[in-house]
Amino acid sequence: MKLLHVDASAKGERSNSRALGRYFIEQLQAQGLELEIDYLDLAREAPAAVTEAFAIATYTAPQARTEQMRQTLAASDVLCERLLQADACLFAMPMYNWSMPSSFKAYIDNITRTELTYLNTADGIVGQLSRQKVLFLTSRGADLRPGNPMAWMDALTPALRAAFAFIGVQHPQFVDAQPLQFADPQARGEALERARGELLQVARQWAA
Ligand SMILES: Cc1cc2nc3c(=O)[nH]c(=O)nc-3n(C[C@H](O)[C@H](O)[C@H](O)COP(=O)(O)O)c2cc1C
Repeated sequence: MKLLHVDASAKGERSNSRALGRYFIEQLQAQGLELEIDYLDLAREAPAAVTEAFAIATYTAPQARTEQMRQTLAASDVLCERLLQADACLFAMPMYNWSMPSSFKAYIDNITRTELTYLNTADGIVGQLSRQKVLFLTSRGADLRPGNPMAWMDALTPALRAAFAFIGVQHPQFVDAQPLQFADPQARGEALERARGELLQVARQWAA
């Protein structure tokens, strides 16, 4: 299985989402899956933000693009290709200010490309990522699980769901480790344990 593994925490060794991502990969391997991992660390290699040149080039038909437009889109083309070649994707990230890290938003802006990750057909938009298994692994300081007073502030889950549905991901899976930073040690430990349990379940499903 070709796995695209993307990390987005600004933290390195201290990061919970990175550690949980590594745990998930270990569980996949423990299930006997042979992984070919393509790793992308958005904290080290943040995709470029949208520029005017990008905005014009991306909506110019491929055959009408100038050489300069092609160069403007080259890095984004590579990110799209890496995604399209994957059989499965693990996107690990912390919640920052109720949504995603800006590097991951820039990533989405780079991989949402007409005639590459989605087709504009007479019948409407056809996302090209329908083949891939997708897991979003998020870490949160607060407890935004359904039923909690702050649950409505989770703008991360719907944003990820919408952006990836547009490019064809119909059934993404979510494992959200919460509450971490703003919890007492016992609640934090339980949250990590719960997340590891859910990751094990997903690993078993992917291997089945
Ligand atoms: C800049 C910043 C913004 C954050 N915003 C939120 C937030 O809006 N809601 C929340 O629950 N936690 C928030 N947190 C806490 C992180 O989501 C939490 O510590 C998470 O475990 C970090 O994941 P990591 O260890 O992989 O970096 C924020 C942390 C930082 C550094």
